[in-house]
Amino acid sequence: MTQDELKKAVARAAIDYIMPKLDDKSVVGIGTGSTANYFIDYLAEVKAQINATVASSQASADRLKSHGIPVLELNVVDEVTVYVDGTDESDHQLCLIKGGGAALTREKIVAAVAKEFVCIADGSKYVERLGNFPLPIEVIPMARSHVARELVKLGGDPVYREGVITDNGNIILDLYNFMIPDPQETERNINNITGVVTNGIFALRPADILLLATQEGIQSLSAK
Ligand code: 5RP
Repeated sequence: MTQDELKKAVARAAIDYIMPKLDDKSVVGIGTGSTANYFIDYLAEVKAQINATVASSQASADRLKSHGIPVLELNVVDEVTVYVDGTDESDHQLCLIKGGGAALTREKIVAAVAKEFVCIADGSKYVERLGNFPLPIEVIPMARSHVARELVKLGGDPVYREGVITDNGNIILDLYNFMIPDPQETERNINNITGVVTNGIFALRPADILLLATQEGIQSLSAK
């Protein structure tokens, strides 16, 4: 199977995984990216059984609405039953690097509210150690140079993602050449730099389960 076929297969598996957990009050959190898009398209097939969703980006909200799936503001929701999203990398503790699609801040907010975070990915995303994928960091525009200098002090090579403005009106720095042996500590340290809105390490709130599509089938993985 191609990478795209694997993404479709795992998106389909996520539907089978979440549907038994939902009742008529459940709210489903929806991620962002190509794997999440396949999930949204499959969700449309069972939309009669879905109460409502919250979206982690304007792009996902637009796609949900185009299928006639109800989308709520997170502020009117008490609880997100389950959050389904892709990832750029996952280690074996299910700590993630996310934000390749620049939606990391809203993704992290929805993950924080969710009772269960289901990560869906093709096998290429499962790694021993985070950091081969450049770490996305959302930054207040006026702090761009300051934050970049601080990131150099941490040992990485920050690169401004040209032409990208997040849904929150901010910019993205991608941190290259920066392996992450202690994801929790690094997540805290980068968040402490003044001007950083969020960084793409999801370690303080990792995924609860990783559905991984491989050539051998779908694996359901917990933290090791
Ligand atoms: C967007 C994300 C995505 O989940 C991540 O980039 C994976 O994307 P894809 O499913 O297209 O491979 O974090 O901000």
